[in-house]
Amino acid sequence: MFEFSIKSGHPEKQRSACVVVGIYEPRRLSDVAKRVDEVSEGFLSSILRRGDLEGKIGQTLLLHNVPGTLADRVLLVGCGRERELGDAQYRKIIQQATRTLHDTGSMEAVCYLTELNVRGRDTAWRIRQAIETANATLYSFDQYKSKRNSTRRPLRKIVFSITTRRELNLAEQAGREAQAISAGVKLTKDLANLPSNVCTPSYLAKQAEDLSKKYEKLTCQVLEAKEIRDKGMHTLLAVAKGSNEPPKFIVLEYQGAVDKKHEAPVVLIGKGVTFDSGGISLKPSDKMDEMKFDMSGAASVLGTLTAVAELQLPLNIICLIPAVENMPSGTAAKPGDIVETMSKQTVEILNTDAEGRLILCDALTYAEVNYKPDVVIDIATLTGACVVALGAHPHGLLGNHNSLIGDLLNAGKYSYDRAWELPLWDEYQEQLDSRFADIANIGGREGGAITAACFLSRFAKKLHWAHLDIAGTAWLTGKEKGATGRPVPLLTQYLLNRCKDNFQPQPPVETDAGIERE
Ligand code: BES
Ligand code: MN
Ligand code: ZN
Repeated sequence: MFEFSIKSGHPEKQRSACVVVGIYEPRRLSDVAKRVDEVSEGFLSSILRRGDLEGKIGQTLLLHNVPGTLADRVLLVGCGRERELGDAQYRKIIQQATRTLHDTGSMEAVCYLTELNVRGRDTAWRIRQAIETANATLYSFDQYKSKRNSTRRPLRKIVFSITTRRELNLAEQAGREAQAISAGVKLTKDLANLPSNVCTPSYLAKQAEDLSKKYEKLTCQVLEAKEIRDKGMHTLLAVAKGSNEPPKFIVLEYQGAVDKKHEAPVVLIGKGVTFDSGGISLKPSDKMDEMKFDMSGAASVLGTLTAVAELQLPLNIICLIPAVENMPSGTAAKPGDIVETMSKQTVEILNTDAEGRLILCDALTYAEVNYKPDVVIDIATLTGACVVALGAHPHGLLGNHNSLIGDLLNAGKYSYDRAWELPLWDEYQEQLDSRFADIANIGGREGGAITAACFLSRFAKKLHWAHLDIAGTAWLTGKEKGATGRPVPLLTQYLLNRCKDNFQPQPPVETDAGIERE
């Protein structure tokens, strides 16, 4: 993570390794670039006239010793057409600028791209996204490379510019939020990127315990196999029993609502399958390595809690992580096995690869029995069908409570970590009919992401519940393979919004010293 700060000031007055300004297409100076052009007596416009930079997104041009300025360098960054500058373009521009700074020896820089006009977005949003995007751009997971790619002069600090000092408080708050979310995203990526021979259920439990030691408002409890059995979570155990790794049921409680200890909590449930081989319904070996990411839901819950704890949000939050490894062996569950859930409903396991729902259903019941949650959100790399339906961009979102769904969709739009709702209609439920038990764990090929959510809905009848299927969004495949840290930004935004909605200005308190403010 790099350092950042925020200020307002003229570009030519910055004593810095680099000043970063935007150029629109075609060869048009942004407001800040105009200012640099004026003090340098037309230096920038003459360069643009000669055709060195068109201003397309992704283009950059690094200049040294620009007349009239105090910085060592001026980095021109293509911003595309001004009218077309939206969220996605802005993020690409910041990404490109960060990469170039990092690769060209500027250890610190003053970046004016936060002053660009992004359609429908204000200063706080631009600062938030700039810091989050820059952090994400500089992320790498190289702890298992024996020779690391070390940059000789890495980027350490960026000062982001705002047009007026009046917005400083606002921008700094946005900056703190961005740093907290970035820390959560980083933790989530690190955990998800770890191989499954390191990141086992026990390892996840240890991480949760470490978090609870780091943050005062967090407490952690880990249920072992015996306690899991005593609670009646037999479907969770059925998934775990083919593996030599013992299952863990992780409970992390964040108590942030200080005066309101009993305020109904938000419960976050993260799927923690540290490796999903499919079990006896074994997956094909092509890309099976990617099933180390099948604990991304769990990782994102831990990441979100990190962001929440960093920001000390005044909420009560419970995280539940059923953590298991899904393996084939002589002790594994077999297709056709019938198992009782914690809710006492029986399940016919027709496919051992539909294991996520078998651990999540017991976590939902655990939430219902042990807390009086305001809302419950589960996060899971649940179905390949969701990837087919929506691709890699939005999370699949389903649930039984419209205002919760609406709040999550909005949080996703603001944080640029978007979700898309799929229909959880009753008509789909019958696909889960079982010949021999109360419910089957698969519903056929049609609408697989929906029938998976239908399965979960049977355990969420008494809850305000939503389900995020992150199978397509939690990691990238191919050349850029790796965890994305999603949906930490969405979830943190949802929780931030809840604080803003809850916020009631407190009346001043009378003390001996008179009126005490805040
Ligand atoms: N973890 C997988 C879902 C998954 C598949 C995520 C591919 C990302 C990429 C899940 O446990 C699973 O195997 N689901 C099955 C369900 C099926 C057997 C009903 C699937 O999607 O194929
Ligand atoms: Mn599976
Ligand atoms: Zn899985």
